[in-house]
Amino acid sequence: MTNQLITFDKQEQVFHLKNNEISYILKIEEDGVLNHLYFGKKINHYSGHKGYLRRDRGFSGNVPGNNERAYSKDTLPQEYSSNGSMDYRIPATIIRRENGSALHDFRYFDYRIENGKPELKGLPQAYILSEDEATSLIVVLKDRDQEIYLELAYTIYQDRPVIARGVKAINQTKQAIVLEKIASMQLDLTNSGEFDEVISLPGAHLRERQINRETIQPGVKSFESRRGASSHHMNSFIALVNHATNEFAGPAIGMHFVYSGNHAFQLEKDQIDQVRILVGINEYNFSWELAAGEAFQTPEVLLTYSDTGLNQMSSTFHHLLRERVARGEHQFKERPILVNNWEATYFDFTSEKIEKIVDEAADLGIEMFVLDDGWFGHRDSDNSSLGDWFEYEGKLKHGLKGIADYVHEKGMQFGVWFEPEMISIDSKLYQEHPDYLMQEPDRTPSSSRDQHLLDMGRKEIRENIEKQLCEILDEVPIDYVKWDMNRSLSDVYSTALTEKNQGEVAHRHILGVYELLEHLTTRYPKILWEGCSGGGGRFDAGFLYYMPQSWPTDNTDAVERLKIQYGTSLAYPISAMTAHVSAVPNHQTGRTTSLKTRGDVAMSGVFGYELDLTEMTEEEKQQVATQIQQYQKIRPLVQFGEFYRLNSPFEGNLTAWLFVNEDKSEALLMNARALASAQPVFHEVFLTGLDENAQYQAQGTNEMYYGDELMHLGLNVPDFFGDFQTQLIHLKKI
Ligand code: GLA
Repeated sequence: MTNQLITFDKQEQVFHLKNNEISYILKIEEDGVLNHLYFGKKINHYSGHKGYLRRDRGFSGNVPGNNERAYSKDTLPQEYSSNGSMDYRIPATIIRRENGSALHDFRYFDYRIENGKPELKGLPQAYILSEDEATSLIVVLKDRDQEIYLELAYTIYQDRPVIARGVKAINQTKQAIVLEKIASMQLDLTNSGEFDEVISLPGAHLRERQINRETIQPGVKSFESRRGASSHHMNSFIALVNHATNEFAGPAIGMHFVYSGNHAFQLEKDQIDQVRILVGINEYNFSWELAAGEAFQTPEVLLTYSDTGLNQMSSTFHHLLRERVARGEHQFKERPILVNNWEATYFDFTSEKIEKIVDEAADLGIEMFVLDDGWFGHRDSDNSSLGDWFEYEGKLKHGLKGIADYVHEKGMQFGVWFEPEMISIDSKLYQEHPDYLMQEPDRTPSSSRDQHLLDMGRKEIRENIEKQLCEILDEVPIDYVKWDMNRSLSDVYSTALTEKNQGEVAHRHILGVYELLEHLTTRYPKILWEGCSGGGGRFDAGFLYYMPQSWPTDNTDAVERLKIQYGTSLAYPISAMTAHVSAVPNHQTGRTTSLKTRGDVAMSGVFGYELDLTEMTEEEKQQVATQIQQYQKIRPLVQFGEFYRLNSPFEGNLTAWLFVNEDKSEALLMNARALASAQPVFHEVFLTGLDENAQYQAQGTNEMYYGDELMHLGLNVPDFFGDFQTQLIHLKKI
């Protein structure tokens, strides 16, 4: 069968997925072993020459049923490995049967090619708008003895260098089986050395998504989260690169796991320097019982290949996540400039205080006011009321509706904070339903920030929370919701499941959260939803499917933000990344930076303020008003333009990045120098992506430059004086 994007060469037994940029090639080898041949730049003509060299290697035994000594699964690059059959590398799946055996050996069984992309029920995913946007190959593997099937799905987009992958396990035996591990994809690379380094995004609360690059060494390495969320600590993204790859040159394979729970990116460099990569739900504390006749669908992985460095890889993901993962009315809309009261008041606010902030905000031109934590239950600190999503009577004189009306009368939008997945012991919800708390009964659960998890795998709990939220959202005119999640999972146990199903709790929990999000975002399509998890604890492609933007970190320090925003941009679009100007000394670091610096850095994201506007001097207010006008002019460019990293804060004192709009008529350059020196070196910065022959004017000045000058001659970074200096240059074609 031949199809535009996917072909099957019957003679060679080769599947070839190909668009104008990339190729992915797999082959059915002897005895039905599914062999990985290639993922990379488009190959126009694959003539079938690339059979793998065979060699008899000691202790690498043979494919069961075949005594050919040189043919071993232990060294053959495969599409999806089994547990057993003498492949000693990390297996993609471990499936235990009733007799206790976890041995299996998957071989090619069948295939289908389908137009479009199969929809994954209940999971976030990349989607298509019409069937001709993508084609999918489904290769069916079957265990050589048992009626257990694996459907490996590969979707290639027509106009993007992207392949989406996922796996469905189907139990056609007469007994239950248990999935102890089920990776969403495997990629076995040969030892060409093309990909000898890996980039990951580790971090911590207040220090998310730092760029980490390391050589792939022999043995197993795992980038993972066991916290029940994608986590601050290791983001659900990696890139494989060559040691020579930089922002503008060299190969890169980017991998996004579209999932917000426990994940693992496992890498193993084997005895002959080949590298296996597995991406999927973390096998830690995971097992899933599949009754006879049942199927399990893994979350999906998005793969891209770039032969022109990391900026190109990021650009593919920026477009894909913005255009085909994020959804809803606000997906392509310019996002409002907001002021959030969290760092201004924390829990300590009154109607008078809020109204004063709103008055100032309206005068300054701010477009939305967001009331953060503390408006519900009897919440005056973080030790109570989660789960009680009704108004804190008396805290706000005219209630939430009163504040909403007040804000709307000022011509601004109104937003509110929720943390729906949690329960405080000190809450009405806990008094009424102590069993809603996720824990093993009679075993003291661990608290964190004085709060606990709700067992979101349970329908009645989700319904309770949904009902409470709907009551507020139906009654109060709310334009925006900040959806928070302020602790990691612990005491992972569900009273709703039997003893042998406890390995399902964490995954069922996140599936429950997804279901609740789907209900609410569908029921309230006009609301702009923003994800948050103590800042960036769940900044992942899965959450982006429900919410087009997310708070990347609780760290609002402009200098630390440079690294966080730079690292985040590696994998995520700028339209997803919110950034606020806060007070100085900064509440997280104690550092003082100028209002200009704070503004310039925050204007490189979805812009807002998070400070007490009523405490600003007239001069500062004037500056804020100017920043708002400035941002309104550059907003489409920043939120929806091409983004390029130019100079890395991880490599030196100077950070530079650039936005260019689609027709190259406008660009915005941001330069930042962290520390001053009495004998400074001069820096130059080289722009990119401009129209070579066009003349650009730096707005607010008479400076003119041709595109080729800016790109090849470069611009001098000003001779800044003092620490933490920034510059924004807005260029417009004349
Ligand atoms: C988390 C968020 C903050 C704020 C607080 C409120 O830490 O990241 O922005 O909303 O919760 O408790």
